[in-house]
Amino acid sequence: MTHKKNPEELRSYRWFGPDTMRGFSHRSRMSQMGYSREDFTGKPVIAIVNTWSEINPCHAHLRERAEAVKRGVWQAGGFPVEVPAFSITETYMKPSPMLYRNLLAMDTEESLRSLPIDGAVLMGGCDKTTPGLLMGAISVNLPAIFLPAGPMLRGNWNGQPLGSGTDLWKFWTERCAGTVSDDDWNAIESGIARSPGFCMTMGTASTMTALSEALGMTLPGASSIPAADSNHVRLAIESGRRAVEMVWEDLKPADVLTLAAFRNAITVDMALSGSTNAIIHLVALARRRGIDLPLPLFDEIARRVPVLANIRPSGEYLMEDFYYAGGLRALMGEIADLLELDSLTVNGNTLGKNLEGARVVKPEVIRGRETPLMENGGTAILYGSLAPDGAVIKTSAADRRLWQHTGPAVVFRDYQDMDARINREDLDVDENSVLVLQNAGPLGGPGMPEWGMLPIPNKLLKRGVRDMVRISDARMSGTAYGTCVLHVSPESYVGGPLALVKDGDAITLDIPNRRLDLGVGEDELARRRAEWKRPAPKEHRGYLALYRERVTQAHQGCDFDFLSPEEGAGDPQIY
Ligand code: FES
Repeated sequence: MTHKKNPEELRSYRWFGPDTMRGFSHRSRMSQMGYSREDFTGKPVIAIVNTWSEINPCHAHLRERAEAVKRGVWQAGGFPVEVPAFSITETYMKPSPMLYRNLLAMDTEESLRSLPIDGAVLMGGCDKTTPGLLMGAISVNLPAIFLPAGPMLRGNWNGQPLGSGTDLWKFWTERCAGTVSDDDWNAIESGIARSPGFCMTMGTASTMTALSEALGMTLPGASSIPAADSNHVRLAIESGRRAVEMVWEDLKPADVLTLAAFRNAITVDMALSGSTNAIIHLVALARRRGIDLPLPLFDEIARRVPVLANIRPSGEYLMEDFYYAGGLRALMGEIADLLELDSLTVNGNTLGKNLEGARVVKPEVIRGRETPLMENGGTAILYGSLAPDGAVIKTSAADRRLWQHTGPAVVFRDYQDMDARINREDLDVDENSVLVLQNAGPLGGPGMPEWGMLPIPNKLLKRGVRDMVRISDARMSGTAYGTCVLHVSPESYVGGPLALVKDGDAITLDIPNRRLDLGVGEDELARRRAEWKRPAPKEHRGYLALYRERVTQAHQGCDFDFLSPEEGAGDPQIY
C-alpha cells in the first residue's frame, strides 16, 4: 500500500486534532460515546452510509452487514461510524421512488461533506439507492467504495423458480386472463421473495449494482454475491478494510470514474440486457463527474455488444444462477476485448487485472460469444417526430413481430385516465392499436413512475394478445417486458410532441431504423400546439415542489440542474 497521506493530513484531523476549543468539543463528545482519543484521532474515519430501514425488505440485512463492515474498518486501523441515509424502497414508496433518488444523493453528499469523514462505504442495492449513493459520493469526491446489498435467493413455487417482478407480471396477466386459481396465486405470493436482498431478475437493482462493479466502484465480484450467502459477510468486511486503505492512498471516485469506466459500464449493461432505467442513471452519474454521455453512445455500443446473460426478463435464469455460473467477472471476461481494461478500480488494480482467471462455469447461464442470447445489445435509442430528444426501447423484451409496426393511437391523458378506461368493453382498441400514455414523465408523473408497461386490455388478453406497441414518457421496471417505448423526450407535460397525439393518429415504430414517428401533418400539429395547455401541477409544497422546478429531462438524467459539478460546495469551514 502506498501512503500518500500522514495522519495530520486526514480530513477528520481538522475536527479532532487541533488543541482548540472546537477540537476539545469534538473530542469530548467522542468520549461521551465511550471512545478514547487514540480510537479516532489520526485514524481514517470511515462513514458506513447505510440505507437500511425496517420497511425496505431488500435491505433487511444491512444493519447486520454494517457490523461486518465495522470489523473490517477496525482491522485496518480505521474508525467506523454508521451514518443512516434515506432508505428508498422500490416497493412501497409512492408515487414513484425515482422522485427520491436525488434526495438520497443530496443526503449522501451533505452528510459526507459536513461531518468529520475521510472515506465511505456506501451500502445500497434496491433500485434507486445505488445511483443515489454514488451520485452523492461523486459530488463530494471522498474515497468511497460501494457495497451492493446482493440479490435475494431464487423464488420458488411448485418446484418452479420464480423471478421478482417478471413472474409477477406474467402470472398477473394469466390471472387477468382467468388461467390462475386463487390457491396458486396465494402460493406464488408466498414463494416469490424468500430472503433478504434485492430483486433477483435483471431489473434495475441487479443492473445498477453490476454497473457499479463495471465502473470500478466495488471490489471484484461484489455485485453477484447473493445477500444470504456467507461470502456476502466476508465481502462487507473486506470492503471496510479496503475503504481505510483507500483513504491513505487518496483514491477518490474522480480517479475511478473516467469516460472509459462509463463506456465499460454501458458495454456491460448491453451484455446483461440491463434495465432501461440504467440509461438515465448512468447519464446522471456521468454528469455529476462532468462527463457527457449522449444517448446515441448507448445505441452505438449496443450495436456491437452481444447479450450474454441469460437472465429474466430477457432470458431464463436468475441472479443466484448467475453467481454460480461465475458472476459478473466471468461475464466481463467473455467480453474483455470490448472493455477498456486499463481502467482503475477501487481495489487499486485495473479492471484487466481483476478479470484475470475469471471463467464461465455454466455456459447455459452466461453464454459464450459464439452462442449469444442476442447478436447485439438489448436496447435501442429512437428518434423521430414523436421523440426529438430521444426515446428508449428494450428490444430484447419486445416481440419481434412488432419491431416495425404502424397503428392507430389509443391515447390516455394520464395514469388515472388509463386506469379508468383500459378495461372498458367500449374502448376502441385492437391488437394493432398503439397505446399512448401522456403526463407520466419527470415533471408530469411526477418522477417518471414505472408505468411504461401499459397493461394489455383484458378483452384482448382473453383473445390471446400478449404484446402490443406501447409509448410513454414514463419508465418501465427492469423486470418488465413488452414492446414498450419509454423515456420519450421532451415529455408531454412540458409540451413535447407526445402531448399532441390524439386517438386514431397513425404512429410508426421502426426499431431497425431507430425511428418513432407521428403521422400527422405540420399544420395540424401547429394547430394542436396552439390549443395545448400544460396540466395543473399536483404538488405545491416541500421537496416535490423543488423537484418540479429543478429536475431535468430523461435524456439529461433527471438530476437537479443545480447539482452540476461546477456548483461544487467545497469543504466546510470549521468554526
Ligand atoms: Fe428492491 Fe426490487 S424492490 S430491488
